[in-house]
Amino acid sequence: MGDFDNLLQPGRIGRMQLRNRIVMAPMGSNFAESDGTCGERIQAYYEARAAGGAGLITMGVGAIAYPHGTAEPYQVGLSDDKFIPGLMGIVERVHKHGAKIAIQLQHAGKTAVRDLAEGRELWVPSMPPALKTDMFAALTQEEMGAFISSSKSREKAGVKIRVMDKADIAQMIEWFAAAADRARRAGFDGVEIHAAHTYIIAGFLSGYFNKRDDEYGGSIENRGRFLREVIAAVRARVGADYPVWLRLDAYELRMDGGITLDEAKVFAKMGEDAGCDAVSVSAYANISTGVAFTEAPLVQQKAGFLHWAAEIKEGLKIPVIAVGRLEPEVADNAIAAGQCDFVAMARKLLADPELPKKLAEGRPEDIRPCIYCYACVSQIFINERVKCAVNPLTGHEAEIPLAPAAKPGHVVVVGGGPGGMEAARAAALRGHKVTLLERSGRLGGTLFFAALAYAENGALLDYLVTQMRKLDIEVRLNTAATPELIKSLGATSVIVASGAERNAPPIAGAELDHVWSGDELRRLMTDDRAEEIAKRKLSLAQRALMKAGSLVGVTDSTDAIQNLSRVWMPLGKKVAIIGGGLVGVELAEFLVDRGREVVVLEEGPSLGRELSIVRRWRVLDTLRQHGVVLHTKAKVESIDKKKLTWTDAEGNRHELAAESVVLAVGARPDDSLARTLEAAGVPVSAVGDGAQLGYIEGAVKSGMLAGLAVG
Ligand SMILES: Cc1cc2nc3c(=O)[nH]c(=O)nc-3n(C[C@H](O)[C@H](O)[C@H](O)COP(=O)(O)O)c2cc1C
Repeated sequence: MGDFDNLLQPGRIGRMQLRNRIVMAPMGSNFAESDGTCGERIQAYYEARAAGGAGLITMGVGAIAYPHGTAEPYQVGLSDDKFIPGLMGIVERVHKHGAKIAIQLQHAGKTAVRDLAEGRELWVPSMPPALKTDMFAALTQEEMGAFISSSKSREKAGVKIRVMDKADIAQMIEWFAAAADRARRAGFDGVEIHAAHTYIIAGFLSGYFNKRDDEYGGSIENRGRFLREVIAAVRARVGADYPVWLRLDAYELRMDGGITLDEAKVFAKMGEDAGCDAVSVSAYANISTGVAFTEAPLVQQKAGFLHWAAEIKEGLKIPVIAVGRLEPEVADNAIAAGQCDFVAMARKLLADPELPKKLAEGRPEDIRPCIYCYACVSQIFINERVKCAVNPLTGHEAEIPLAPAAKPGHVVVVGGGPGGMEAARAAALRGHKVTLLERSGRLGGTLFFAALAYAENGALLDYLVTQMRKLDIEVRLNTAATPELIKSLGATSVIVASGAERNAPPIAGAELDHVWSGDELRRLMTDDRAEEIAKRKLSLAQRALMKAGSLVGVTDSTDAIQNLSRVWMPLGKKVAIIGGGLVGVELAEFLVDRGREVVVLEEGPSLGRELSIVRRWRVLDTLRQHGVVLHTKAKVESIDKKKLTWTDAEGNRHELAAESVVLAVGARPDDSLARTLEAAGVPVSAVGDGAQLGYIEGAVKSGMLAGLAVG
């Protein structure tokens, strides 16, 4: 890994001098108060990102006409001087750490769901095309009720659309200009005009949305007119040398007549000519299907927009800010190669606000990685405050201090999964001596298996394992925790993170050899007492194959297993998965990628419900693309050697041929160890799936809290 010199060098946007090239990308957080003011929560959140070393913080979606034109219930208001004191609080706290701060100026236009909910008109350039989407199909009942643009709120309020006339256009421009000036007076170092993501300005730029026949519609020149007028008004109000820049879409994907790269180049140039100091390059995809959201703006593909930023930069003199899953190394190279001048990071800085600082200190291995689970942005869809599955402190910076232990002791952690490792890490950071006991031959627990199913999880595993080593945590593998051992270690506190147990459901035939519980598969693939399972369930020939594939023993890295499992796995071609929760659907994704024909049978009404909404859209789309058959309300009655029998919601019986059956149901917290220890007089706290099923997010959170609470 390089030294990140390019990323860490100072830079300038207009007159604004920045200590490095790392920009915190604008993110609506829902962390403001319910009246749009900025209280302690959002102030502490941004302060943490400034303290973490970013050169520039961009606050997301400042509402220029608050509450009109807002898309989130706890959005930041920028429409009145009453918002200034709270905003000043943020600015001061960010400046204290040497970072600069800007705020994004936004009016949500047709997506101003708060206007929708409160019966106000939605302001649009012209009547928007009807959105036909399948995104609701994957939601649970509760999510549906809370969804930002749920049909319920539409029904209640009725959709009132207001196609903007000239007076409305003038009013909108005034809102932008006044908000920019207010930001300047609050001490912000600059403003970003949000001209992307189908909000009001993008609505005018886009041929898909803009069907006007006056001077604001039609030709590219006309569609750019509103943007130019906004920039001119902002400029006139804030003065010639106040940093002002644009966020644009390089593309509007999945939209006939939407913005193209060639058009984006023209709009960027218009921005430069109108006096903008930089252009930030994002993209958008029509959510006609949920998975589109992971094409843009929350791109799943690494560096997915970088080539567009580079092309746009070619035509400009002003700096270009690139965004979109840019890993530090890629970002550093991109700057070196002149593809962009600054790199904005969003999700990564939710996961670890100290990313820039850790790069500067030459310890990139200490950066807590984003696992692209979309927990953060899925919150926005259901009107909740943003959270981060791998960083429980996000949005709670003011509440959960990491204080040194009052009386450093010896903390014994039982279980080396994500909850256990996180508890060990937090306790060690606070000055405790920590010993971690793990029954199997490797750290990771279910996270190891989760990393097989979704490779992104592997980054979290690597991070946690590295932290065990760097924090001098004594890890004892192949060690069962007994009351005697724990007493002999002289533990002052014990944290038990022993995970979930997955018992076979009471289905006739569940005990057959070709039926695998998720646990058995996990143990076999990750070499956790694998021989015992292999002896019980595999024929001699299969065991020989397994040895030849050297799965057992060569299972140190998830990468190795990812690859080996392409060659060998104890599953036939036709696989039935019973259970369509997180484990079932991720397993299905893993198996189709390895050439299996998969059918998922879920007893409940929804699939992948423990996954965040956006990740769920993605997984279900992948499964459907691969021809996986997904049945809900499907009750499996019995399994025999060649097939299983199930009934649908109407009580009709079906048969399904299956060479292998995987049981992905019946997980429940396994607190037996915690109880045994307690019965032997050892006081324990239980975390992770062993206490309450919460998967990675729950494990990391309860692990961290336990590590912060001991002593
Ligand atoms: C929780 C969340 C909220 C976001 N809100 C905004 C926003 O308010 N304005 C905006 O322009 N982009 C918003 N984005 C998009 C990001 O700025 C960024 O372009 C995108 O996440 C891709 O960058 P990344 O791969 O570094 O996360 C948001 C992203 C996330 C994760």
